[in-house]
Amino acid sequence: MGTSFTLRNFKPQDLDAVMHINLTCLPENYTPSFYMNHYESFPKAFYVAEVDSKIIGYVMSRVERGLSNHKPISVVKKGHIISIAVLPDYRRKGVGKSLMINSLKGLKDYGAEECYLEVRISNTPAINLYKSLDFEIIRIIRGYYLNGEDAYLMSRRLDFLPEDCTF
Ligand SMILES: CC(C)(COP(=O)(O)OP(=O)(O)OC[C@H]1O[C@@H](n2cnc3c(N)ncnc32)[C@H](O)[C@@H]1OP(=O)(O)O)[C@@H](O)C(=O)NCCC(=O)NCCS
Repeated sequence: MGTSFTLRNFKPQDLDAVMHINLTCLPENYTPSFYMNHYESFPKAFYVAEVDSKIIGYVMSRVERGLSNHKPISVVKKGHIISIAVLPDYRRKGVGKSLMINSLKGLKDYGAEECYLEVRISNTPAINLYKSLDFEIIRIIRGYYLNGEDAYLMSRRLDFLPEDCTF
């Protein structure tokens, strides 16, 4: 049976729940002010997913200016997915994909022309999620993570987005 979930933008009162999910799911952890700075600067790209009023996933992103990861190479506004996680009991139900689609839409609203992210080269679930959203591997960043693991830099243009991004 499917679990029904809803998505909405992050609110300050969600901070503890989001930090709990981050600490449960990822080795890359952040201070409260790091989350709040992203919320204050890019609220339209910071989403949470809920099941029965419980927060079970989040995605936090920002917009940067820099060299495009796609041709023609020029200076562009780029979305950057900073962190995404879904609690283990709620995975493989489309939550991660929906979070991503909504955050991409928010980034596009801020004028981002493309979006990139870093992912551990061993993180098959996340890599498959990003590939399912048409992200492509642009390059390897050697020793990107604290334990020395390499990252893939993955990116996609934001000119076309999937339609199913309203919840
Ligand atoms: C990566 C993560 C956010 C995916 O969330 P999710 O809600 O399970 O993802 P979805 O259900 O939306 O999956 C969408 C697609 O991604 C791929 N995918 C997701 N999990 C996968 C897995 N365990 N194995 C293989 N492919 C997987 C599949 O293509 C899937 O589509 P399908 O279920 O129709 O086959 C989740 O596994 C997670 O929180 N992992 C720990 C934190 C993390 O690694 N974050 C990313 C850091 S870069």
